[in-house]
Amino acid sequence: MQAWNIRQNIDYLLAIRDQLGPMYGSEDLCMLLYSLVRREQPQVVVELGTGLGATTAWIASALKELGDGCIYTFDNGSHFQDASVKSFLSKLTGPLHDLARLSQTGSYEECMAWIFDHAEVTERIKFVKGDIDFNARAVEAVAKGQKIDLLFSDFNHTPKTINQLLGAYLPYMNAMSSIYIDSASTYLPSYWMLDNLVRMLNAKRIPATLRQGLDSDQLTALKNLIDESSFQLVHLVEKAARSQNSTAWIRISTDDLLPAHATHVRA
Ligand SMILES: C[S@@+](CC[C@H](N)C(=O)[O-])C[C@H]1O[C@@H](n2cnc3c(N)ncnc32)[C@H](O)[C@@H]1O
Repeated sequence: MQAWNIRQNIDYLLAIRDQLGPMYGSEDLCMLLYSLVRREQPQVVVELGTGLGATTAWIASALKELGDGCIYTFDNGSHFQDASVKSFLSKLTGPLHDLARLSQTGSYEECMAWIFDHAEVTERIKFVKGDIDFNARAVEAVAKGQKIDLLFSDFNHTPKTINQLLGAYLPYMNAMSSIYIDSASTYLPSYWMLDNLVRMLNAKRIPATLRQGLDSDQLTALKNLIDESSFQLVHLVEKAARSQNSTAWIRISTDDLLPAHATHVRA
């Protein structure tokens, strides 16, 4: 049997990108994350902030093409209740016409299930409706004993939340992995904070705020990661005057003479 390919369901995926993406300015991010997932083949992807499922569906479609990996995505559905979101959803057309109707009466979970089913990607997604929680046990449960290859945070980009996020998740990140924090690069306090933070991590120093609340195993995992890794910060900024127009990308890779993931290197 031929492996699944996005071409088989491209009308729904494009409608999700083009009609749902603009709610959070994530049309191009869908494509970027899709391509990066195809290239780097993460096994464990965590998304904080599902929104209307646009980025989730595109990441999951790449995982489905690869035939492996899972995206764990979390949202408490708070934004879905807003009148502005309901009004936005009521105008959906074409392949998303039935979702326009469902969104006015159905629950957030029903709408997400509709989107993921029609995109044919449900099998690669674990969607959890609930508050995003940085306590160690919650993060451990998310990771389920596995290291995380790709973390995409898209619900809050203040310096305080970013510090909590990194303190909670860095001990669970894989030696070769990526963290994307949406909107952080165009929020000046977060932009400056991330630059300083990554400089400290590369100097093998752990800011006190990152240690807060970690038990000794997590602190050891964090120290090991920082000892053995390099951190690169790339500010992916959209050339567009709208909100949510950037993503801060922290690339974690093992200190080595070869580039991350390289299997064939020409000498
Ligand atoms: C910007 S949207 C996510 C967009 C989505 N990743 C995309 O690009 O298509 C942020 C989402 O985070 C959710 N959210 C905000 N604060 C939250 C919290 N404390 N716990 C869980 N979800 C939260 C909102 O309900 C909203 O749907």
